[in-house]
Amino acid sequence: MARTATLNLADKLKSHLPPELADLVQAAGEIAQRQGENLYLVGGAVRDLLLGRTNLDLDLVVEGDAINLANELTRVFWSKTITHTRFGTAKVQSDKWSIDIATARSETYARPGALPTVTPGAIKDDLFRRDFTINAMAIELSPARYGQLLDLYGGRDDLERKLIRILHERSFIDDATRIWRAVRYEQRLDFTMEPVTLGLLKRDLGCLDTISGDRIRHELELALKEEYPEKAIRRAGELGVLVRVHPGLKADDWLAGKFAHARRIAPEPPPVALSLALLAYRLTIEEVEQLVAYLRLPKTVAQTLRDTLSLKTELKSLAKSGIRPGAVYALLHDFAPAAITANLVATDSSLVRERLNLYSSKLRHVRTTLTGSDLRKMGITPGIRMKELLARLLDARLNGKIKDRRGEEQLVKKWLGGRG
Ligand code: CTP
Repeated sequence: MARTATLNLADKLKSHLPPELADLVQAAGEIAQRQGENLYLVGGAVRDLLLGRTNLDLDLVVEGDAINLANELTRVFWSKTITHTRFGTAKVQSDKWSIDIATARSETYARPGALPTVTPGAIKDDLFRRDFTINAMAIELSPARYGQLLDLYGGRDDLERKLIRILHERSFIDDATRIWRAVRYEQRLDFTMEPVTLGLLKRDLGCLDTISGDRIRHELELALKEEYPEKAIRRAGELGVLVRVHPGLKADDWLAGKFAHARRIAPEPPPVALSLALLAYRLTIEEVEQLVAYLRLPKTVAQTLRDTLSLKTELKSLAKSGIRPGAVYALLHDFAPAAITANLVATDSSLVRERLNLYSSKLRHVRTTLTGSDLRKMGITPGIRMKELLARLLDARLNGKIKDRRGEEQLVKKWLGGRG
């Protein structure tokens, strides 16, 4: 049950938010009050403020007109506003933070998996429609009650007990993406699922099939973007959530090790296409095609997955002894860079790894000095033959046979002389 003692977080707001953002939030509360409306900070930012974690993506809820409030706020502060009238929400954004403003609402679901039907409501309804108690708290922003925590569903207690708890029995049926969300929060925060929630999650696993592939992709991407995606993916595996994405997906020690390896070598954080490629690495080509179709993966990501698997079948050639740099280049240069990185991380052969590294760090940047127009001046007409000559020149350069322009010219002349 919710506790009665009030908690004021005004000081925390001031110390945890950048000054510019704290000022904006406070001013928003004043503007709303002038318009006769109540404004609240809600959701993840409240949770994270109580946990002492940084979160600069704020969600504000107004018992009134969100678009109007956002316009007024941008008029005063000269920031950008993007309005999404369909849902009655607005976004105010800088490069470091964002504020989403929405009208307080209640939601009903026509059927499992459907998007909700939204009607304006009071903050109490707005908090009740949310996923978990720890995400269903609000902080009052009206000047008279600025900073006061509104905790109607026991969120603070659950934060202290480290529990993920849904608010009502139909929560996962209404919105099965919450199954993925429960897994993510549990693993990110090192919490556990409260037993009734866990039971309902298992009961409602089938509802994941009511969610569109696009929405599942979004959830999967969020899990892969976690600081330690292996934790969320492993838990999704244990609970039978991952097999609903594709029955061939495995979340085991191998994958955990590969995610950790990717973190060590990729720019922070590893791109989602790389994590997806590692997740899909042990599928067959047909299974990858099923995954691509179900999740409706964007073209470039789909290509990365396909390239990853085709390259996997070529790794044997890369492991041959005495293979020259030119041949390494020829084998790899058509593959998407993320597919090369995925294989670099996935392979168990240090020789293959060395060659993939050589390609990524050095070979792929090598160019010939002579260009097509230089060859034209040497009497070669553009076409397949010119392309072949340029490729042979590059190969010679990669293999260290020539080092400069003079060497390249001499080689071309030799080939022309011998009609090579
Ligand atoms: N929310 C919900 N059900 C969902 C999605 C969102 O109830 N299926 C609510 C939660 O109150 C959540 C808030 O909307 O806190 C904002 O959603 P989102 O930005 O996805 O989550 P955050 O809590 O901000 O979490 P994260 O730190 O993962 O961004």
